[in-house]
Amino acid sequence: MKQIIDALNKALAMEIQAILQYVNQYHILHDADFMELANKTMAIAKEEMSHADDLGKRIKELGGSAVAMPDAKPTTGQGVEDIFQFDADLETTTIKKYNEFSEICRENGDTVSATLLERISASEQEHSTRSTR
Ligand SMILES: [Fe+2]
Ligand SMILES: [Fe+2]
Repeated sequence: MKQIIDALNKALAMEIQAILQYVNQYHILHDADFMELANKTMAIAKEEMSHADDLGKRIKELGGSAVAMPDAKPTTGQGVEDIFQFDADLETTTIKKYNEFSEICRENGDTVSATLLERISASEQEHSTRSTR
């Protein structure tokens, strides 16, 4: 069980980092007057928030405590031209990790958490495509 809760907490930390990253980029895009891109970026940040919420709830269902800390500091001061490739890479790394976490859950007989991670992964996949458009 500890292995599952640790994996879910690591995923939660990655979501919190993604929220901070996208909100940072929202301000950069907003300041540069790219309003449509800024709003799209904020919409993604809100979806990451919803992923974080789902992960937190699942951790609690399993009797664990949800640790709300970013996985790493977000990258700040990016140029507008750096943002989209950076995000595509971030989402790709996240998908890879979530596949590993989902396997850990399945190996330990927790198909509910595995399915949750796979559902979130599909949403990250969508973000990675939107990021490069
Ligand atoms: Fe996410
Ligand atoms: Fe994402």
